[in-house]
Amino acid sequence: MVRLLLLLLLLPLLHVWATTPEPCAVDDDDFRCACNFTAPEPEWSSAYQCMSAVEVEIRGGGRSLKQFVKFANTDPRQYADVVRALRLRRLTVGDAQVPALLLFALLRGLGSSRLNHLTLEDLEVIGSTPPPPPEATGPALSTLRLRNVSWAAGGAWLAQLQLWLKPGLTALTIAQAHSLAFPCADLRAFPSLTSLDLSDNPGLDERGLAAALCRDKFPALRELALRSTGVQTPGGVCAALAAAAVRPQHLDLSHNALRAAAAPGAPPCVWPSALSSLNLSSAGLEQVPAGLPAQLSALDLSNNQLNREPRPDELPKVRELALAGNPFQDPKNSGVVSACERLIQALGLSGTLVLLQAARSLA
Ligand SMILES: *[C@@H]1O[C@H](CO)[C@@H](O)[C@H](O)[C@H]1NC(C)=O
Ligand SMILES: *[C@@H]1O[C@H](CO)[C@@H](O)[C@H](O)[C@H]1NC(C)=O
Ligand SMILES: *[C@@H]1O[C@H](CO)[C@@H](O)[C@H](O)[C@H]1NC(C)=O
Repeated sequence: MVRLLLLLLLLPLLHVWATTPEPCAVDDDDFRCACNFTAPEPEWSSAYQCMSAVEVEIRGGGRSLKQFVKFANTDPRQYADVVRALRLRRLTVGDAQVPALLLFALLRGLGSSRLNHLTLEDLEVIGSTPPPPPEATGPALSTLRLRNVSWAAGGAWLAQLQLWLKPGLTALTIAQAHSLAFPCADLRAFPSLTSLDLSDNPGLDERGLAAALCRDKFPALRELALRSTGVQTPGGVCAALAAAAVRPQHLDLSHNALRAAAAPGAPPCVWPSALSSLNLSSAGLEQVPAGLPAQLSALDLSNNQLNREPRPDELPKVRELALAGNPFQDPKNSGVVSACERLIQALGLSGTLVLLQAARSLA
């Protein structure tokens, strides 16, 4: 019935679609819908096709969405029933210049929706921010991802955005950020955020990390990913975690050019006691870094430059150790590491135990 109605409504547009390439395409199951408005005068109404999709991706072809700012004043109560009926769960908006007024109006408009994953990519958020809402009127997101989003508000953007989202965010990813220097006094805590991914911010380094991790704002954090963030020593990261009272169980420092020696003059740091796995893969390490957390159960040192097998006294007591892809393991270098040993190292001890158990059950 609804479909028929929409079709009738959209009939006048059909002849336009026949002549210009369709900016939006929806799959046969009405599940995924993607729009790419790159044409000089794009047919915006094509987006109606996405009305019943679960995953929607809208790219603005790099253009400014200023012309839509007049819709920012629409009272969301007018169409709350329609929004409530949407199947939309995942939304990606990208490749556009968008007024902050419009972006926050979109969040407010989706407040009664079931949207739980929002991704913003290659966006320039311009203009003034609307006054803060009396209460969080936006969607109850579980996952928020941003990549290459610049904000006229500078580092205040996260605190502003946070005011619109209902609490419950569990995963936050911010890559290629333009500002991660958050004014901590304005930021509220993220009580249920368990995963924070700041990977792919090459200019961050330890100092930027200390500025981004506002103290006591991430009390539930269990996973922290810092791939390609320009950090230089595990000890410097430890100090930033301690200062922010952030206590992850899993820490990913892979794809950073790490120094094995601690920074000169750096005081020894106490790692969070909950930290159980540390990823130091692809970090250019020639030695095992000094001052690793003592209580790790998993350590990934794969794809480094270790020229000899680490001595037990250099390593924390780990159950799962990955050493694949280091020069000392190359048969041309050592000639003694058997295929079996390499398999064991690649699988880690737990994988080996599984193999042994499998072998036993076959016997
Ligand atoms: C959008 O269309 C442009 C031009 O046709 C193309 O270059 C670009 O890759 C498209 N973007 C996506 C995400 O498909
Ligand atoms: C970042 O987004 C801007 C638009 O805001 C775009 O012009 C630029 O090409 C993007 N950069 C990358 C590396 O994708
Ligand atoms: C460590 O990081 C590398 C590269 O980012 C990844 O391929 C690998 O799976 C990670 N290791 C573990 C144990 O998660």
